[in-house]
Amino acid sequence: MTVQSFDIAEPFFNLDVVTAAERHQISGRAIVLNLADEPLEILDQSLPSLASVILQDVVLERVQQAAIVQGFDAHEDEAALMAQVRQAWPSAFEVRGEERLRGVQHYMSKKAWSGQVGFTFYHSASVPLKVGLHKDHPFCPVPGFREVHTQILGLGKMQQCRQQDVATLYLEEVMAPGVTHRPMFDADGNYPWHQYETITPSIFMAVELLPEGAQPPPPSPVLSRPAPSGPAPSGPTPSGVVQSHSQDRQP
Ligand SMILES: [Fe+2]
Repeated sequence: MTVQSFDIAEPFFNLDVVTAAERHQISGRAIVLNLADEPLEILDQSLPSLASVILQDVVLERVQQAAIVQGFDAHEDEAALMAQVRQAWPSAFEVRGEERLRGVQHYMSKKAWSGQVGFTFYHSASVPLKVGLHKDHPFCPVPGFREVHTQILGLGKMQQCRQQDVATLYLEEVMAPGVTHRPMFDADGNYPWHQYETITPSIFMAVELLPEGAQPPPPSPVLSRPAPSGPAPSGPTPSGVVQSHSQDRQP
């Protein structure tokens, strides 16, 4: 069993990735996302692949790989927390340089990789957000790229459309803290037109699962920002874990 701790969202949230655990104790409240193809067990319940739930003081069983986010409900004033996040994380436009993101109130943490799985936290500050519909994830050079998004704070919605026009919407999933929208890729890694949209100012975790044989993109220079007030991030980055502001896809 291994537990990797990532500091990309600290001091706001903690992210652990648990791998190959017959049993893993959840202490306090946590959002748990099953990253494996097989379900994991919670008492008499099963958590399917790429599904998430809020858990409290319970044991996970037969965990192949799972992401655990804690601290999401430890803040009394979410607006104040999000203001701190905006001071700590650069805008997605600053990091990715995509013209369509200019002026969009979308902020992103550093990215962490655990093997083939990448994690990034995003703060979407405006309602609506209008990051734009997309269906391609060109940074991934091989087919089979899979992505899901897990809501951490606020309310959002994942929208699927027939064309690159929100008027052609055919499926919408509301996302509240602890919810991951259903996977929308097919067996070949093809996506419908999709976008994340806010209902309230939000924070979500983007999860990217690269197919076997694909290498995580190399880290690019990390933008320096003044540290927010609050508890200091805990511990150094685990060895072998890449954290970066890689320029890649849009949620
Ligand atoms: Fe996407």
